[in-house]
Amino acid sequence: MKVLITGASSGMGREMAKILADQYDQMVLVARDQNRLALLQQEIMTSHPAVNVTTVSLDLSNPEYCQQLHTMHPDVDLLINNAGFGDSGVFAERPLEKDLSMINTNVVALHVLTKLYLADMQARNSGHILNIGSIAGFMPGPLMATYYATKNYVVRLSEAIREELRRAKSKVKISVLCPGPVDTNFAKTADVKFNFHGVDSTKVARYAIQHLNQFYIVPTFTVRLARFAIGLLPTTWVARIVYNLQAKRQKTK
Ligand SMILES: NC(=O)c1ccc[n+]([C@@H]2O[C@H](COP(=O)([O-])OP(=O)(O)OC[C@H]3O[C@@H](n4cnc5c(N)ncnc54)[C@H](OP(=O)(O)O)[C@@H]3O)[C@@H](O)[C@H]2O)c1
Repeated sequence: MKVLITGASSGMGREMAKILADQYDQMVLVARDQNRLALLQQEIMTSHPAVNVTTVSLDLSNPEYCQQLHTMHPDVDLLINNAGFGDSGVFAERPLEKDLSMINTNVVALHVLTKLYLADMQARNSGHILNIGSIAGFMPGPLMATYYATKNYVVRLSEAIREELRRAKSKVKISVLCPGPVDTNFAKTADVKFNFHGVDSTKVARYAIQHLNQFYIVPTFTVRLARFAIGLLPTTWVARIVYNLQAKRQKTK
């Protein structure tokens, strides 16, 4: 059984890789930082000598590299589209290049890999795709507009594919993980400070793997409650609340 995890060099991707070494005998770990990937590869091969771990260092924000990744490593049983990052600031004032890089990583790479691997899986009528969304995927995100919009894309794309698979009576599964704040490099990269304590990334990774049979995987009761409340409120109110929360985050950073 083969798993491919993008963004495996740190945070949730790294933690999921360590957990999945118990279940998969072939692992493909993808990110840009080859040193951190090699350290993880060493760690897994020491604790699980029977597991074949391959590392692939590439920048997923280039769609051509995503296609090359699929050509090099087709036919995976579990694809985890985890690579992604956030950034903050007033939309009109943010550098366009950074927005485009985020859209290419969080949206385009996930879209390309989902499409290519889903076709393999549908041909075999087996396999599972886990897309990493966020609680941000259920709302607008003023002061982090691009990031929230990318995660809305991830949630909506996954929802639509789930329905197509259901109609086709396919055995292929898709899930979307939607955590709230998690303690990883995310906040540093996004240049924000969480208003709430981030949850331990190992706990979130374990929860995700244990709940793969679900479509929406929403770790922690607080985030499930927040998601429920968001569904009850008008979008304009949600946008105002998120603006205030994000403004506080950016003042306290
Ligand atoms: N932490 C949170 O609060 C939180 C909450 C909800 C959802 N999420 C989502 O969870 C996912 C994982 O993030 P994390 O929290 O674990 O943060 P993280 O520790 O910063 O991990 C992000 C991973 O993505 C990889 N990555 C980023 N850009 C890439 C690129 N262009 N090409 C290849 N790999 C790239 C990074 O590797 P390299 O730098 O080595 O390339 C790293 O392995 C992201 O999609 C994030 O949006 C995070």
